[in-house]
Amino acid sequence: MSSQSRSRLPCQGSLNMVATISVFAFAVFILSYGFAAPSPSGVPKFVEISGSKTPPLDVFQVQAPLRKSYDGTSCQQVIVQHNFGASYGTPFVGIYSPPKDCEFTTTIFNLSVTSAGINYDRLGLLFFGDLEVWRTTTAMPVRTGIFWNFLKDMTVWDTLLRSEHKVIMELDNLDDSVFTGAYNVTITALYYNDHVAMTPADRIYPISSQSSSKNQSSVLSLPDQNATASYILPKNMERAVVSILASGNGAEEFWYKHVPTEYVNTFSTAIRPYSPFREVQLLIDEQLAGVSWPFPIVFTGGISPGLWLPIVGIDTYDVPSFEIDITPFLPALCDGNPHKFELKVVGYDSRTTFGTTAENWYVTASIFAWLDKESTQTRGSLIESSTLPPNFHLTPQIITSSGTNMSLYLELTAHRTLSHTSTLITSSGLRFVTWIQSLSYINTQNYTAPGFNDTLFQHTSGTSTFSPTSQLAAPITNSFSYPLSAFIANNPATDPIATNSSIYASLDRSLVSTSIPILSYLTSPSTYHTPVVLDTKQNGSCIYFWNDTYYESAGAIDPAKGTIGATEQWYSFTGPVTGGGIEGYGRHVKAVDGYEPTLVLDESYSEAIVVPATHNYVKAEL
Ligand SMILES: *[C@@H]1O[C@H](CO)[C@@H](O)[C@H](O)[C@H]1NC(C)=O
Ligand SMILES: *[C@@H]1O[C@H](CO)[C@@H](O)[C@H](O)[C@H]1NC(C)=O
Ligand SMILES: *[C@@H]1O[C@H](CO)[C@@H](O)[C@H](O)[C@H]1NC(C)=O
Ligand SMILES: *[C@@H]1O[C@H](CO)[C@@H](O)[C@H](O)[C@H]1NC(C)=O
Ligand SMILES: *[C@@H]1O[C@H](CO)[C@@H](O)[C@H](O)[C@H]1NC(C)=O
Ligand SMILES: *[C@@H]1O[C@H](CO)[C@@H](O)[C@H](O)[C@H]1NC(C)=O
Ligand SMILES: *[C@@H]1O[C@H](CO)[C@@H](O)[C@H](O)[C@H]1NC(C)=O
Ligand SMILES: *[C@@H]1O[C@H](CO)[C@@H](O)[C@H](O)[C@H]1NC(C)=O
Ligand SMILES: *[C@@H]1O[C@H](CO)[C@@H](O)[C@H](O)[C@H]1NC(C)=O
Ligand SMILES: *[C@@H]1O[C@H](CO)[C@@H](O)[C@H](O)[C@H]1NC(C)=O
Repeated sequence: MSSQSRSRLPCQGSLNMVATISVFAFAVFILSYGFAAPSPSGVPKFVEISGSKTPPLDVFQVQAPLRKSYDGTSCQQVIVQHNFGASYGTPFVGIYSPPKDCEFTTTIFNLSVTSAGINYDRLGLLFFGDLEVWRTTTAMPVRTGIFWNFLKDMTVWDTLLRSEHKVIMELDNLDDSVFTGAYNVTITALYYNDHVAMTPADRIYPISSQSSSKNQSSVLSLPDQNATASYILPKNMERAVVSILASGNGAEEFWYKHVPTEYVNTFSTAIRPYSPFREVQLLIDEQLAGVSWPFPIVFTGGISPGLWLPIVGIDTYDVPSFEIDITPFLPALCDGNPHKFELKVVGYDSRTTFGTTAENWYVTASIFAWLDKESTQTRGSLIESSTLPPNFHLTPQIITSSGTNMSLYLELTAHRTLSHTSTLITSSGLRFVTWIQSLSYINTQNYTAPGFNDTLFQHTSGTSTFSPTSQLAAPITNSFSYPLSAFIANNPATDPIATNSSIYASLDRSLVSTSIPILSYLTSPSTYHTPVVLDTKQNGSCIYFWNDTYYESAGAIDPAKGTIGATEQWYSFTGPVTGGGIEGYGRHVKAVDGYEPTLVLDESYSEAIVVPATHNYVKAEL
C-alpha cells in the first residue's frame, strides 16, 4: 500500500482553496474558466434575506421505496450521530456492534442530516474498518435550514454487519464566520427479517489506504497516490466480485467538460485539461480486469447550485459503486500466492491514448469473495482474454475571426469491448465463467462567446455480462445509458464587488438502466433474479446572480426578466423488492428555484411511468 498520507478532502467544488479564499460555490466555474478566484481580502458580509420563521426545507433525492413497508423492524440502532462542524482531519469514530438477540436478513441504513447557514456541498465517506460502505454528498444549506433523509440497502455487507467494527465517517467541513452550516448526521441501522435464504460473501477485502487503525478514513486520492493492495486469497473461492467507488472531485468535478490538453489555451480563459473522457480501471497483477465509464454525477454545488433545491441530482446521496465480476481470474487467484489489485483513473491523451487526470479522484474498492465450503482448492484455467484499448476518434473545429479563436467545437468518440472467460472446477463441477463489457461514448462540446459559453452533449452507454449462479442458465447482461446535455453561460463581473456575476445554466440528463445488481443477486438470489429497470430524467434551467458581498444558495432567479428557474424530474422503476415480489414506482416532480424553492408538482405512482428522453443540445444547435 501507498504510505503517502492523503491530503485533506477539499469540498467538491473548489480545490484546496476553501480555507483561504473562496467564498462562493461558483468558484468552481470561475476556476474552470480560469478567472481569478474571489478576492481574499475581507470576509464577505452576508445579507439576511428574511427574518421570518420558515420551517426547514426537505431537500430530497427521488428514489423508489426499498420495501413495501418500513414498519416491522426486528431491531434498530443508531450507528453514527455526529455534528460535522470544523471537521477537516477529524472524522467521526465509533464502534459498530451487531444487534443482540435480533434475527435479520435485510439491513437498511437511514441517513438523516440537518443543516442551517451557508456552506458548500461536502463529501461524506462512511467506513466500516478499512472498507468504504457508503459514499454520500451533502446538499447546500440555506439560512432557514434544510434536512434530508435517505435510505440505503446494506444487505450486501451482511458479513460485516454481524461482527464488531470501527465505524469511521469522514465529512470534511468548515465552520467559521463565513461557512456557518454544520452538518448534523444521524445514521440508524434498520434490521428486518424477511425469512429469505441468504448467501452473503464470506470475506470482504479492502483496496484502500487501510488507515482505520489511525482513526482516519481509508480513501485514496488519484493520481497523487497509488491505489494498490496485495492479498493471498483463499484457495477455495468460487466467486469474487470487486465493487468500486470512484468520484471526480476538486479539479475533476466537471471532468465531462474538460478538453484534450492541447486545446486548453484556445481562449484567454483557460479550459480544463486531460479530455472529457474518464475510465476507472481495475487491474489484477497488471492485467485489466474491468472498467467503469462513470456516470457524470452533478453534486448540489454543480453546474448551478440553484438547480438543486429542493430536488437534488441523481445519485447525490448515494454515489454509485461499480461492480466487476472477477470470477474468471479465480484459477490464478486461488494459487496461494500474493496477487496485486490496483485502481487507476485515466483520461484520453491524443498522443498516448491514455493519460493522467487532475486531482482528485477519490477511490476505494472492496473484493467480495464466496468460498466453496466443500473443497479446499478451486481449479480451472483462463481460456480467453481480450482487453484491446478503446478506439478514440477526435474531431476538432476552431472558428477564428481576425486571428482570434471565437469557438471551439470538439467531438470525441470511443468504443471498447473487453472479455475474460475461464473454466472453473469447484465441488459442484466444471462450469464456464465470463465477464464481458461493451462500452460506447460520445462527447461533443461547443465552446463559444470565446470560451464563456459551453454547449455540451455526452452520452455513455454499455453492457456488462456475467455468469449466473446456476451452471445451466444463460449469462446475464446488464445495460445502462447516461445522456447528458448542458448549456452553461458564464458572465463574470469585471468588478465583482460593485456588480453581480451571473451564470445561466440549462441541463437535461438521464440515467437509464436494466440490471441485476451482481452483489445483491449473489447475496439474496431468490430476491434479485429479475432485473431492476430504472429510467429517470432531470432537466431544468436557472440564472444565478452573486456579488462579493452577497451569497445565498437558494437564489436562482432572474429579477430582470421576471423569470424563475425550475428543475423537473421523472423517475420510473420496476424491480424486485426484499421480502418477495416485483414493485413498480413512478414519480414526477417539479420545483421552482428562487429565494423560496417550492415544489409546484409532485405526483407519485405505484407503477412505472413514461419518461421523456434527454434532448441533445448540440444537435439542436446545429
Ligand atoms: C429515518 O430517519 C428520519 C429522521 O429520524 C425519520 O423521520 C424517518 O422516519 C426514518 N425512516 C425510517 C424508514 O425509519
Ligand atoms: C444533532 O441531531 C441530534 C439528533 O437529532 C440532536 O440530538 C442534537 O442535539 C443535534 N445537535 C446539534 C448540534 O444540533
Ligand atoms: C481512536 O478513537 C478511539 C475512540 O475515540 C480512541 O479510543 C482511540 O484511542 C483512538 N486511537 C487512535 C490511534 O487515535
Ligand atoms: C506509486 O507507484 C510507483 C510505481 O511503483 C512509484 O514509483 C511511486 O513512488 C508510487 N507513488 C506513491 C505516492 O506511493
Ligand atoms: C487558437 O487555438 C489554438 C488551439 O487551442 C491555439 O493553439 C492558439 O494559440 C489559439 N490562438 C490564439 C490567438 O489564442
Ligand atoms: C452566451 O450565452 C448567453 C446566455 O444565454 C447569451 O446571452 C449570449 O448571446 C451567448 N453568447 C454567444 C456568443 O453565443
Ligand atoms: C449584492 O447583492 C446583495 C444581495 O442581493 C445586494 O443587497 C447588494 O446591493 C448587491 N451589491 C451590489 C453592488 O449590487
Ligand atoms: C445582484 O443580485 C442580487 C441577487 O439576485 C440582486 O438582489 C441585486 O439587485 C443585483 N444587483 C445588481 C446591481 O444587479
Ligand atoms: C423538461 O423537458 C421537457 C421535455 O422533455 C419539457 O417539456 C419541460 O418543460 C422541461 N422542464 C423544465 C423545468 O425545463
Ligand atoms: C459552434 O458554435 C459556433 C458559434 O455559435 C457556430 O458557428 C458553429 O456552427 C458551432 N459548431 C457546431 C459544430 O455546432
